[in-house]
This record gives sequence, structure tokens and C-alpha cells, in this order.
Amino acid sequence: MRALQGAVETLQSGGLVAFPTETVYGLGADAENSTAVARIFATKGRPADHPLIVHLANLDQITRWARDIPPAAWRLARRYWPGPLTLILHRTGRVPGIVTGGQDTVGLRVPDHPLALALLEAFGGGIAAPSANRFGRVSPTTAAHVREELGDALDRILDGGPCRVGIESTILDLSGHQPRLLRPGTITLAEIEAVLQQPIAQPGNDAPRAPGTLRAHYAPNTPLRLVPITNLEAEACWRLAQGQRIAVLSLSAILLPEVCLQQGMPIQPSGWARELYARLRALDTLCLDCILIEDPPSSADWQAVRDRLERAASAQGGPFPFKDRPLVLPRWSYEN
Ligand code: TXA
Ligand code: MG
Repeated sequence: MRALQGAVETLQSGGLVAFPTETVYGLGADAENSTAVARIFATKGRPADHPLIVHLANLDQITRWARDIPPAAWRLARRYWPGPLTLILHRTGRVPGIVTGGQDTVGLRVPDHPLALALLEAFGGGIAAPSANRFGRVSPTTAAHVREELGDALDRILDGGPCRVGIESTILDLSGHQPRLLRPGTITLAEIEAVLQQPIAQPGNDAPRAPGTLRAHYAPNTPLRLVPITNLEAEACWRLAQGQRIAVLSLSAILLPEVCLQQGMPIQPSGWARELYARLRALDTLCLDCILIEDPPSSADWQAVRDRLERAASAQGGPFPFKDRPLVLPRWSYEN
């Protein structure tokens, strides 16, 4: 395939290639070319101390990039690669410091997408790639998203259709004493614990090493609020009465005035994850005053979707102060 060969040549000559993965589109460069990797940071507007994931063609390449690999890493890699799981391991000397933000560890994953795997196979080396969006914004799940956001700055975009998973990989840190979840994803904590037969530490409040773990991340431009179903109708009506233009995304069927843009969402977390970022991007183009989203269930299977939603909501001035109270709200509480 000509596009693939062209992409390989672009990588070999130090260029940037956006490519599909099963989670979101990545912005890739040759992981061993520091100049090319520096262009990723410049293109995204990403701070230098936020490390990149190195994508590999297969499990066998892991030893080129990581050392002192614990049995847990092999077990998980065998079970989930190719797939949406990133493992943080101690790095070898092959990994340039710029990829890891100067840290002694490296994030590795084998993506589960035929085009990504074909690219990795044909290239032969590791591809360093963050999500192909500007720093802090919503990750792209189609090639069109990437073109809109970064088109001019890229040498090539491979189009592999819409991403199947829709949110970023689960990140598990295996470089310490106890495995630790750094970013929830569609491979859940419970599934990892079942494979490893040991408890996993939850994301901590210590200094953020991963930008996806900053509170204000994955944010659309439009203010976004997570609202419990018990308050959703009342808050929507209150905003409409103020003359606001709003959208409401809900799992439950609720009846709202026609002027309100209302969209139902899939009732399974996997469906929600697949659609979330595309919906936010589409709604962002409408210049609404606010997007109200029904608070998803608090059960473990919703952890990853809930995480992304909470971060998107917290980017706009912090959580709403009266979340669980009846709706008697002073106007100032909406201004942010
Ligand atoms: O699904 C995904 O993971 C997508 C696709 C393209 O693979 N990639 C992605 O990359 O989401 P990015 O850069 O947007 O998020 C990767 C996360 C960042 O939060 C980064 O800080 C963290 O992985 N990370 C990478 N290396 C790390 C390390 N050595 N220690 C801790 N966190 C690390
Ligand atoms: Mg990202």
C-alpha cells in the first residue's frame, strides 16, 4: 500500500505521521530520533516533562526498550497485547531522554489496529506517539479530527476509520513495588487484578507524571457540567429560561423543551467511550453556552468514562458547588 510505504519513509526521514490506533489517533515519530520527537512536543504544545508512549509491533520488542521486566509485565502483555494497555517499565539506554521526559521509565504498548501494526511492522522500530491533539484538548478518534486540529503541522495522516475504543489506553505502572494504575481505560482495574492475582494501587494524588492525570484535561471549549439525573431536567430548564443555548446528553430518557439540543447516549460504557470525544467535538462547533451530561453510574465499569468526563468538566472552573442540592441557584455560580 502506497500510503503505508510513504508513512514509513516519512518516519525514517524524521517526519511526523498521524496514525490510527484502536483507542485514539496517535501523532507518531521515530522514537529513536530525538529531533523528530522534539517536533511532536512543539506541534502539540506539550510541556517537555510529559513523557510519550513508545508503540511497538509486537511483544518480542519489549526487551529492546525495557529492562528488569517483572513477570507481571509479561503476563499482562501476553494477555492484552495488541490492545489498549500501556505498561510503564524501567527503560533501556536505547530510549532517548526526550521521549520519557527525563524519567528512568518508559511507557510501552502494542496497539490493536491493523494499520498501526502494519506501519510498525514495516518501520521496524518503535514509534513514539501521544494522542494527535493539542495539549489539554480532546483526543481525536477520526482522521478528520486530526486534520482539523493539526493538519498543517503534519507530514502525513493515515486514515484507518473511526477508533473502535474511543478513549486512551489504560496505563499501569509496573516500575515500583506495587503495580499502580495511572490512567483508567477500558481494560479495567478488576480485569488486571484478576490476571495478576494481586491488588493494584489506584491513581494517586502525588505529582502528576502523566498529563492525562492532570485534573483539567481532555477538555472541549464549551463549558461542560456533569449533572445527576435527579437534577438534570431542572437545571436544563433553568438554563433555557435564562436564554442559554445548551445541549443535554443523557443515558436516561427525559423530556425537555424542543429548543434544547438533546441527545441520548449508549447505555454501555464501551459505547459511551467510543462516542464521547466525537460528540464533544461536534457540540463544540455549535458555540453553545453549556453542555450538560448525565452523571454516569459510579460502578467500576464506568471508571474510565467517568474519569474523562470529570476532567473535561473540571477544566471549566471546577465542580459545580451545589451538585446534589435542589436547584435554587444564584446566577454567578454559572459564570466561569
Ligand atoms: O491510547 C493511548 O494511550 C494513545 C494512543 C495514541 O496510543 N496515546 C496517548 O498518549 O494517549 P498521550 O501522550 O496522550 O498519553 C500518554 C500518557 C501520558 O499521560 C504520559 O504522561 C503517560 O502516558 N506516560 C508515558 N510514559 C510515561 C512514564 N514513563 N511514566 C508515567 N507516565 C507515562
Ligand atoms: Mg493525550
